[in-house]
Amino acid sequence: MGQLTDAPGCRRADPGAMSESAQSSQASPHTEAFDLPLEIAENYERVFVPAFFAQWAPMLCEAAGLSPGARVLDVACGTGIVARTASPLVAPSGQVIGLDANEAMLTVARRVAPELEFQRGEAAALPFPDRSFDAVLCQMALMFFADRRAAVTEMSRVLRPGGVLALLVPGPLDDQPGFTPFVTVASRHAGPDAVGLLSSYFVCGDEAALAGLLVDAGLADVRVEQRHGIYQAPSAGWYGPRWRARH
Ligand SMILES: C[S@@+](CC[C@H](N)C(=O)[O-])C[C@H]1O[C@@H](n2cnc3c(N)ncnc32)[C@H](O)[C@@H]1O
Repeated sequence: MGQLTDAPGCRRADPGAMSESAQSSQASPHTEAFDLPLEIAENYERVFVPAFFAQWAPMLCEAAGLSPGARVLDVACGTGIVARTASPLVAPSGQVIGLDANEAMLTVARRVAPELEFQRGEAAALPFPDRSFDAVLCQMALMFFADRRAAVTEMSRVLRPGGVLALLVPGPLDDQPGFTPFVTVASRHAGPDAVGLLSSYFVCGDEAALAGLLVDAGLADVRVEQRHGIYQAPSAGWYGPRWRARH
């Protein structure tokens, strides 16, 4: 059981001018840190999407109030679970575009849903014009962005006035009854570095800080809501042999 926090209902307030970072977005950089092996993206789709990520996508789409005809951007789409969930909700005339910095994730996304559009890009420099989407969705990724402020500002920039940004991030580590014992055990056996790594997943869990980030990006009607979910992982034995085989 995990407890997660989402900020589902932020509206684009005023049109605003195109920011400098946005203007440079056509030359979006891709770092090698994102060049993960295809095998990892395949495992993500096969194991982790059904175990954990799929359950949040309908909640995010509902929070965004998607309706037929809407033009939707899924930022940091991974293997595309949110884009796939949004697509039938905006059909037949709407459009969903998935964007991710990781080519391997996009390769799997395109294989699973060849009818959808996926493109490589950096969240902090979105390669789209101002006000080009009715809704921007971002699930379980904000905490990984090097420049979260720039990324949220970019998401706000590409929203049309009155459009909705729906973001979902994990709540604070202290509120994770399923995960806290895992981090405690990791600290005992793997030391503080491992704890730092595991804790990084929860760095966006402060609701006030999250709301402040959204307001600073020019969004209005900011709401933060909590939803609960379950991590249905395979047994430890599933991971063990694979881990040993690779190291
Ligand atoms: C945990 S996955 C979530 C993927 C997807 N939203 C989901 O719910 O399954 C995080 C994703 O963020 C992407 N990502 C991380 N930093 C990014 C950045 N700066 N710009 C674009 N994508 C990024 C990663 O490549 C990865 O696919």
